[in-house]
Amino acid sequence: MQFTTEEKGMLSGRDGHATKKSMEILVALGEIYGAKRLIPVSSVQVSGVSYKNLGDAGIEFLMELAEDGKARVKTTLNPAGMDLTNWKQQGIDANFASKQLEVIDAYRRLGLEISCTCTPYLAGNEPHLGEHIAWGESSAVVYANSVLGARTNREGGPSALAASLTGRTPLYGYHLDENRAATVVVDVTAAVRSAEGFAAMGYAIGKVVKNGVPYFRGIKAAALEELKELSAALASSGGVAMFHMAGVTPEAGKVPKGTERVSFGQRDLAEVTAGLSDEGEPDFISVGCPHCSLKEVGTIAGLLRGRKVTREFWICTSREVKRQSDEKGYSKTIERSGAKFACDTCMVVAPVETMGFSVVATNSAKACHYLRNNGLRVRFLTLDRCVAEATKPN
Ligand code: F3S
Repeated sequence: MQFTTEEKGMLSGRDGHATKKSMEILVALGEIYGAKRLIPVSSVQVSGVSYKNLGDAGIEFLMELAEDGKARVKTTLNPAGMDLTNWKQQGIDANFASKQLEVIDAYRRLGLEISCTCTPYLAGNEPHLGEHIAWGESSAVVYANSVLGARTNREGGPSALAASLTGRTPLYGYHLDENRAATVVVDVTAAVRSAEGFAAMGYAIGKVVKNGVPYFRGIKAAALEELKELSAALASSGGVAMFHMAGVTPEAGKVPKGTERVSFGQRDLAEVTAGLSDEGEPDFISVGCPHCSLKEVGTIAGLLRGRKVTREFWICTSREVKRQSDEKGYSKTIERSGAKFACDTCMVVAPVETMGFSVVATNSAKACHYLRNNGLRVRFLTLDRCVAEATKPN
C-alpha cells in the first residue's frame, strides 16, 4: 500500500500508541482486501458497545487505546447494553451496569459522542451523497450506502474505531464504483405497504442475495421508516451492505446486462412473515429495531393514549429522538401508559434473555432473527398489534 507523509508518521508511532495500533489494523485490513491506499473519512459510527458483546477483553482493549487515542472525525456510538440513565428501572443487574459504564467511560475518553444509537442518521450524523465514511452498525451501513448514497464497508468494532482515531479507511469494497452495481434484480409483485412488509421482504431477499447488491423494482414509493426496516432485515439474514430501489434510492441507475433476476410475490411475503413467528403468548413487547424515528414514536403515543400497558413494553430509540418526543408531548402520553423508553439500548443488545422473559413480540425482522439467536421465542407483529399485545387485559 502507498502512504502519505502524514500516514507514515502515524504508522511510525509519532502520534502515540493508539494511532499506531489503529494504523496497523487498517493496513492489515487493506492488505487482505487489496487496497492500494487509505482515504480520509468524514464520519464514523462504532459498533461493539454493549458489555454483553465486548466482555472484559473488550474493555481492556478500549482502556489501552484510551491512554493516548483521540477521535479525529465525528464519531457516534451504537447502542449499549442498557439505558445509561434509567438502567435500574429497566431491571439491569448492577454488576452489568458497572461494566457497561466502564465501556462508555473509555469511549468518552477517546472523544467519541455518547449517542448510542443505530440510527445515527436521525440523530445528527447524516452523511451525504458520495461521502466516504466508516460505519459499523450493519443496518445503518445499508441505509447510508443505499438511501443516503454515502460510501462505507461493513466495519467491525476495531476497524471503525481505528478509522475514528486516524480519520482514514482502506480504499476497497463499497468505496469503489464498481462494487456498488446491482448483482440481483428483484421484481416485486407483492403488495409491500408497511414497514413490517418491507422488513419481511428484506429478510427473504437477504437470504437469496447473501452479500450481493439487490435492485428492487416495482415499488412506487417508500417512507424513511420502511427503508430503515428493509435495511436492517437485508443485513441480518444476509451480508448485504447496499441495495438499490428504482425511483427511490439515489444510485439506482442502469442495471448491468445479464444481471440475475428473482421475483418477490404475495405468497413469498406471506411465507416469510409466518416464518418469523414462533408459538407462545408474548410476555415482553419491544419496538424500535432499528431505533424508532420521531414519527414512529408519535404513532405509538397515539395508539397508547388513554390506555395502560399490562406487559413490559420497551420503545427503543435514541436520546435525541426522545428529546424531540418530549418537546412534542409524546413522551408524557407514553410514560403515563406505563410503557418505557429504552434509550441508548435495545431488546437485542440488552441482556433481556437473563431477565425472565421468554416470548418477545416485535415489529422488526432483524430483532426476530437476533432474539432467536439469544435463545428467546418471538412473535413478528405490526406496530399496532404490538401495542395491542402490550395493553391486552391479563
Ligand atoms: Fe439497533 Fe439493536 Fe436493532 S442496535 S438495529 S435496535 S438490534
